[in-house]
Amino acid sequence: MENTENAEKTSAQSRLLIKGGKIVNDDQSIFADIYVEDGVIKQIGNNLVIPGGARTIEAQGKLIIPGGIDTHTHMQLPFMGTCAVDDFYSGTKAALAGGTTMIMDFVLDQKGVPLLEAYDKWRNWADSKVCCDYSLHVAVTYWNDSVANEMEVLTKERGINSFKMFLAYKDVFMLDDSELYNSFKRCKELGAMAMVHAENGHLIAQVEAEATNRAIMLANQTNCPLYVVHVMSRSAADMVCNARKKVLAALCVQVEGEAVSRAIAVANQANCPIYIVKVMSKTSAETIADARRKGCVVFGEPIAASLGTDGTHQWNKCWRHAAGHVMGPPLRPDPTTPGYLMDLLANGDLACTGTDNCTFNADQKALGKDDFRKIPNGVNGVEDRMSVIWEKGVGRIAVGSDADLVIWDPTATRTISAKTHHQAVDFNIFEGMVVHGVPVYVISNGHVVVDEGQLKVTQGQGRFIPNPVHSEAAYGRIASRELARRPQKVDREVYEGPVTEIKANS
Ligand code: URP
Ligand code: ZN
Ligand code: ZN
Ligand code: ZN
Repeated sequence: MENTENAEKTSAQSRLLIKGGKIVNDDQSIFADIYVEDGVIKQIGNNLVIPGGARTIEAQGKLIIPGGIDTHTHMQLPFMGTCAVDDFYSGTKAALAGGTTMIMDFVLDQKGVPLLEAYDKWRNWADSKVCCDYSLHVAVTYWNDSVANEMEVLTKERGINSFKMFLAYKDVFMLDDSELYNSFKRCKELGAMAMVHAENGHLIAQVEAEATNRAIMLANQTNCPLYVVHVMSRSAADMVCNARKKVLAALCVQVEGEAVSRAIAVANQANCPIYIVKVMSKTSAETIADARRKGCVVFGEPIAASLGTDGTHQWNKCWRHAAGHVMGPPLRPDPTTPGYLMDLLANGDLACTGTDNCTFNADQKALGKDDFRKIPNGVNGVEDRMSVIWEKGVGRIAVGSDADLVIWDPTATRTISAKTHHQAVDFNIFEGMVVHGVPVYVISNGHVVVDEGQLKVTQGQGRFIPNPVHSEAAYGRIASRELARRPQKVDREVYEGPVTEIKANS
């Protein structure tokens, strides 16, 4: 009896009617009311007949968009000798504040740690802290039979359908080409997505090592801080260099574009779908677009940082400001890159957006104050992504869908700032940007977590969302490619003629 009463109470509390808003889906926008119960959209339409006791949210003049999904975060990641300052609590709280109702984080432990052990560690960190739903990708940073076996367990029993491989971070996370090929073949067998951080780690390591002394000299000559070399050692062909920067441009190499091409070639050979994380340059985006036109199953992920700002900040006179923009692959110092990437996102050449949110405070960035190579790589984004690119929200508002919704005021504005954001980090790469469009209400699993702009989250309320393998989006075309590429039999007689002899020492 008591239980039933409680159940009724909970249910009444979670009954929500959203009235008068404009529902924005990927294919059409309609004016309709939405009725939510127990975290699920139960009805969409006008003049809905609904049970009593529901809370009504008036959404006249507002857009109702699906809650955002950030495909790429690193909450509390132990990295480069320190640990990302936004953990699964502050990171997901900030996500919700900005209208993102789900994040996808990376299990990324040290090389050699069994994948299942690393997975358990991330689940333990996240489950008790997340305020919104989350999924996990798992990084493969070394290769052997037990990794291959663990990948199978992860896909079949742990809700993982994506694995990330690194072509960067030599001696830390980087795989060589044959390990990459093996991991892609395994992904293919399991129906999983292969994800790649594409930068040529050998070149980065070598150029960085060579650059150290020269960098000090150039930094003195140009008033450029040392970390500019970080960009220069990873530059793309599209970099714009003025006379001063040309000196540094001598260090330029195509480290991102080359790695993207190589990853696509290897994936093509394994007939495995591939997802290039954080597309940072025009070259990388064009390589992906070209490959897609040639029939490769490849997806590109620009991030809030590469769509919303650029690498010119790395020349800022304030060291913290400049170091705050250091990430890998680097933001390009070409101010036309963000618009270009946005165009490719809009026309479908690029697939979706994440953030690579991996935040470090000033004192952590300062680990690299005398050596740019030691600046922990990473920027913010999880809170501001929706505002920076809100019109590109993904998902669908339909009966039966999770009630992860954002009631968006397209006319309201806010100014992004580290002083007012909800992330734990003390810096914001979008500082001062005035964005049009503000989440007035955010509904996560039917709970109103942003209520007239006020944040009301609960630690541990998010759920882990398992992802199925063999998704149609990734594997639909793989099967037909498989058929088309099957070797054809040629009927011919066996060669009976002479065979030359190979002599020793010849
Ligand atoms: O600069 C970045 N992206 N830091 C996070 C680690 C990674 O590379 O994904
Ligand atoms: Zn990465
Ligand atoms: Zn500054
Ligand atoms: Zn990342």
